[in-house]
Amino acid sequence: MAADNSIRPELIVRRMPFSFDDDINVKWNPLRPEWSYMVNGASLAMPYLEPYLIRTMRKALPNFTNERLIEEVKKYIGQEAQHYQQHKKFNDVLKASGYEELAVIEEEMARDFELFDRQRSPKFNLAYAAGFESMALALGHWLINNREYLFAGSDTRVASLVLWHFVEEIEHKCAAFDAYEDLYGGYFYRIYGTIFAALHVMKYSRKAYIAMMKKDGHWASFKSRVNLMRYSGGFLFGVAKELIHSFIPWHHPLDIKDPEWSDEWIKEYEESKGDFVYLDTNNLMQPKGGV
Ligand SMILES: [Fe+2]
Ligand SMILES: [Fe+2]
Repeated sequence: MAADNSIRPELIVRRMPFSFDDDINVKWNPLRPEWSYMVNGASLAMPYLEPYLIRTMRKALPNFTNERLIEEVKKYIGQEAQHYQQHKKFNDVLKASGYEELAVIEEEMARDFELFDRQRSPKFNLAYAAGFESMALALGHWLINNREYLFAGSDTRVASLVLWHFVEEIEHKCAAFDAYEDLYGGYFYRIYGTIFAALHVMKYSRKAYIAMMKKDGHWASFKSRVNLMRYSGGFLFGVAKELIHSFIPWHHPLDIKDPEWSDEWIKEYEESKGDFVYLDTNNLMQPKGGV
């Protein structure tokens, strides 16, 4: 259902100066190594997934007539371009620690997305984008609401990358949904896109973290596997509420209230005129206190 256009947040393309030196530990959260691997696996997918989302939205752009939507989609493209470039910097450091196995997974992802470009319909690609964004919105809520548990005491460079990314995922929650609704609509196909995209990205993230954990000798550890199940269960349970909301036929992302912390992060960034980059991971209840 079309929500009031006037209340969409204005999207800002922030160029974050993250720097990932080779002293980054693969297990960047020493308290939660398995969670570190899960994030690393998801990060590996970003430089393949997000350029595909950008290509999809670029192809759709000439078909929009609504000026507000055109602006929103252009800013969305700008934000996603920043996301994958920042993740790529982090991924390059991870890969430099010697995970040759990841190259095969990267090739598979590149091939999949290229096939989607060439062989699937524009409607499929846009339903994938809208569906992935529903997942990203749900994930953003879970990450932010559980930031203490997931990131306290961790390497600020990785925590800041992930939480910045998901503040912006929440900020641009309407763009792909609006684009899909504007050009195609169709409830069942949107749900298909959501399930397909969620499973597709999870498949590759999982493959990547399993490869890294095997290489580092954690996959065979009973304790690691139990912890992994705990984080996976927490993630699935944590995203369920917002994801199920997106399965309602009259769902619109604006119906989901943003976490206060993401608004505070945006305010803090504005007030610092872009100086606010790194979070204090020992004090994650407030975004203030960059280190
Ligand atoms: Fe993104
Ligand atoms: Fe996104």
